[in-house]
Amino acid sequence: MKVKKAIIPAAGLGTRFLPATKAMPKEMLPVVDKPTIQYIVEEAIESGIEDIIIVTGKGKRAIEDHFDHAFELEDNLYKKEKFDLLDKVKQSAKVDIHYIRQKEPKGLGHAIWCARKFIGDEPFAVLLGDDIVRSDEPCLKQLINQYNETDSSVIGVKQVPEEETDRYGIIAPKKQDGRLYEVEHFVEKPAVDKAPSNLAIIGRYVFTPEIMDLLATQETGRGGEVQLTDAIERLNVDQPVYGYEFEGERYDVGDQIGFIKTTLAIAMEREEMREDVLHHMREIMEKHKSMNI
Ligand code: G1P
Repeated sequence: MKVKKAIIPAAGLGTRFLPATKAMPKEMLPVVDKPTIQYIVEEAIESGIEDIIIVTGKGKRAIEDHFDHAFELEDNLYKKEKFDLLDKVKQSAKVDIHYIRQKEPKGLGHAIWCARKFIGDEPFAVLLGDDIVRSDEPCLKQLINQYNETDSSVIGVKQVPEEETDRYGIIAPKKQDGRLYEVEHFVEKPAVDKAPSNLAIIGRYVFTPEIMDLLATQETGRGGEVQLTDAIERLNVDQPVYGYEFEGERYDVGDQIGFIKTTLAIAMEREEMREDVLHHMREIMEKHKSMNI
């Protein structure tokens, strides 16, 4: 069955970006000129997803407004013949976006489970908003291709520095075939000295629908939250769940330094900005050199 639906959890509090996130959802923080969540929605669309459900929480209404038709703005741009900008504003109309609220902050696994009625008996994708991936072939598309080959759940992984393994779900690989891994275990945020590898789960997943039944009975795990990784570990007992080391550069926008790096990288992708950004970076470096920093 084709993967046509995707869940984007967006219920997190965004405390790492306070005070910016006091009155604005973290998913709406712009990288250059687009909210972070729009990069994620665009990746889903480019991967062939037709319906997206965003799991929201308190104070997230700006996300719904963002993906709504902005009639006044569109009309205004049309009358001023600013067709380029009009196109940008209309981008998000290519897919149906639905919303559901996670009423209690019970963790990622619970947020995904909140969308179970929307998913029904179909395979589906999950994209986490803290990771933006820049690649020739969209990251999710790469995973969907693997799902189509294996007819099994596929989880996006990337190597991370060993000292950072306690920040991620980590896989214990069993067998490797190119970029595809058979997996022995999935462990949520192991201590650095206990990590079975440095292959980290990076915010992109394709699941068979059975994961929802496991989430329904999943007990709380690390941090007192229902962990998606724990349900994946159980799913892997009943049916294979693969890890796929996707191609592309991954940026963590859930973290302040990651956010700055992403902004620079995406600004550098834009021809009209590249020279100015480089010039400014050189100036900063010269200044710091002369100050001996
Ligand atoms: C979540 C997952 C974790 C994964 C990470 C990727 O953790 O629980 O397995 O590695 O996303 O960004 P969080 O960053 O929400 O704590």
